[in-house]
Amino acid sequence: MTNMFNPKVWPSTTTEEFGVIAVGGCSLPVLAREFGTPAFILDEADFKLRAAQWKSALDKHFGDNAGTAYYAAKAFISKEIVHWVEQSGLGLDVCTGGELAVAKAANFPAERIELHGNNKSEEEIADAIDYRVGTIVVDSLQEIERVAKNAHNKGVVQKVLLRLTPGVDAHTHEAISTAHEDVKFGFSIASGAAWDAVLATTKHDSLSLQGFHAHIGSQIFVSDAFETSAARLIEMLSKYKAQFGVELPELDLGGGYGIAYVDGDDPSDANQIMEKLSKTVTAECGKNNLAVPKISIEPGRAIVGPAMITLYEVGTTKEVVLEDGSKRWYVSVDGGMSDNLRTALYDAEYSIDLVNRISTAPLRMARVVGKHCETGDIVINDVQLPSDIVPGDLLATPATGAYGRSMANNYNHMVRPPVISVFNQTARTIIRRESYADLLALEVDEKPRRIAE
Ligand code: LLP
Repeated sequence: MTNMFNPKVWPSTTTEEFGVIAVGGCSLPVLAREFGTPAFILDEADFKLRAAQWKSALDKHFGDNAGTAYYAAKAFISKEIVHWVEQSGLGLDVCTGGELAVAKAANFPAERIELHGNNKSEEEIADAIDYRVGTIVVDSLQEIERVAKNAHNKGVVQKVLLRLTPGVDAHTHEAISTAHEDVKFGFSIASGAAWDAVLATTKHDSLSLQGFHAHIGSQIFVSDAFETSAARLIEMLSKYKAQFGVELPELDLGGGYGIAYVDGDDPSDANQIMEKLSKTVTAECGKNNLAVPKISIEPGRAIVGPAMITLYEVGTTKEVVLEDGSKRWYVSVDGGMSDNLRTALYDAEYSIDLVNRISTAPLRMARVVGKHCETGDIVINDVQLPSDIVPGDLLATPATGAYGRSMANNYNHMVRPPVISVFNQTARTIIRRESYADLLALEVDEKPRRIAE
């Protein structure tokens, strides 16, 4: 049997010839030679295609009521990505001052930015208002006061959404579920906190309440959870209308749409999801006698996740005899938990392929591990790989675009890998590889300063 990539998990421009895999028309062995490993390889066409698909699905199914398709920058952000998001006509969801700084550096139109976060600092709020971001999604009572005060002092009326907790189980890993009751995000609808937040917001002339927001979690496959969440937000719109006699103009239903990582993952596409959602929203608004508000969404993973792969070189292989006498085959690559934390954090599953040559060797169960000083430094727990893999072979993990480079870290003083963008047989670095000098540059030789008053 020969090694074959699975087109469901690889970027859309991936091709294979005699066992050599190419993305964006660039052969992965050549990219490894030119740019080194480990490296993230980003398929520009694939990113833009998915961004366009989400925007057009929203526009198609919500028509005049389509709000903004925001790209969730936390999945992966760089100035180049911000340019692509702008060119694709999407908005940008940022959740820290750092992400906002990248948006600003890329001159992203302020009106199309939405600022999130459950603990935005005074400085982050001030930065966002100075830049005149379109929307701030407010997450706590203290924050209502902080945003109101900052906007008031600057003579600005700031558009805000209130982040609500609809009490929905998103059926995903607990660490990435965000809308059951016991979470740090948002105002609970069930407890009445959400209504208190509405009343607190409407007291301020410097805040213009546009509507409600919910994000129920990430890597979600069951669409019912999105629909239940939308229905609960619509009940809140109805309560607002009953109290104030006017309708709020916007609902932001968040992101969280799942993608395929391994064989058998079968996510719905943007069109299917938006079609179901628009039916629910229309029906629920009808039931509550409300006009359909503008509907916004915030996909991150579903846009950048499938567009990037991680390219590794094999360094060592080792056979280990287990207690029961069976053998485990360890294949070590030159990255690991510094470029992919998701296996260790969420038991995430990935696939991996040999990409530099054909192999007709029988498959063998392998554990692919990194080079960190930690047993839990596992890229993939159990995966069938050709049994003739040797040091120098290249392996690549597809679908690492979301929360791969963005959660990369320097554990063991590993340098973070570069991001190489490929398009139509060309390749360029958009984020360079860190160097030891970068790491050492953070160290300061400072004389002690007296601190006591
Ligand atoms: N909007 C809000 C308010 C969010 O908190 C998130 C993700 C998104 C949108 C985008 O969700 P997406 O479409 O990418 O699923 N580090 C975890 C994922 C954490 C997600 C945090 N919030 C992981 O690697 O799976």
